[in-house]
Amino acid sequence: MPDEPAHHPPFNDPAHWDRMVATYEAQAQPFTTHFAEAALATLAIGPSSKVLDVATGTGAAALAAARTGAAVTAIDFSAGMVQRVRAHGLPNIDARQMDGQALTLPDAAFDAVLSVFGVMLFPDWRAGLREMARVTRPGGLAAIAVWNSADGGAVHMLVSQIVRALYPDSIGPPPAAGLAELADPERLAAAVTAAGFAHPVITEVTRDFELNVADLDGVDRLLPFATHWSALDLPQREAVARAFWDEIERGRVGDLFPIPSTALIATAMRP
Ligand SMILES: C[S@@+](CC[C@H](N)C(=O)[O-])C[C@H]1O[C@@H](n2cnc3c(N)ncnc32)[C@H](O)[C@@H]1O
Repeated sequence: MPDEPAHHPPFNDPAHWDRMVATYEAQAQPFTTHFAEAALATLAIGPSSKVLDVATGTGAAALAAARTGAAVTAIDFSAGMVQRVRAHGLPNIDARQMDGQALTLPDAAFDAVLSVFGVMLFPDWRAGLREMARVTRPGGLAAIAVWNSADGGAVHMLVSQIVRALYPDSIGPPPAAGLAELADPERLAAAVTAAGFAHPVITEVTRDFELNVADLDGVDRLLPFATHWSALDLPQREAVARAFWDEIERGRVGDLFPIPSTALIATAMRP
């Protein structure tokens, strides 16, 4: 049985993300890049733009923004993630370790600000959104990408659904508050407006997460991140793992198992 994360979910611990850098870059970034590019496409940026990427991770959005020639600042509270982005050595990315809930950046400093699957995880996600508004210049734009489900996307979502179907009465620690609150177009638009933005437009974007099932251990390691996992006993966990593998056997195409996942992207203007 895989190790249990110390907290469930461990998203608020920078050390968790430090340990995830290589795995995240290999498995998640190719997938989150699709959503980062969709979010960027809603922002009018080019070589003269100053852009901020909040909770950059291994840099999916920052790297895509940098390809337009924009001057990009990328922040993350994980030193390991920041080092990884710096290691690309791009002259137009300034990667800095910083808490997205309290940015040490001046007011109105950026033409465009984005956060892709970042702010939704902050314990004080409202402060994260307010900080994004504070550092956006009047007339500037922001894009915030979140999952359309409190279960998140990709493997987390699928395993959480299996847990709920098999054990509807199991209640573990709830998912991150922002993940649940923002997983709805109307609530997302209201939150973005309450943070100080105007005219939010919500776009829905669906992409397949391609799980490589040749790496069996890699798949099993993902199971404990499912919602309510910590409330299950050993036989229940084994039953969930079996149901997950049955689903994979039904849907796999060779070594790849596609998991369609839908994000909501809110784009809004700073008045
Ligand atoms: C799901 S990853 C998203 C990474 C990237 N934006 C992407 O789309 O691939 C979430 C990131 O949020 C960062 N994070 C979590 N809480 C944070 C906080 N309070 N301040 C800054 N970064 C934070 C984590 O270190 C992690 O890199």
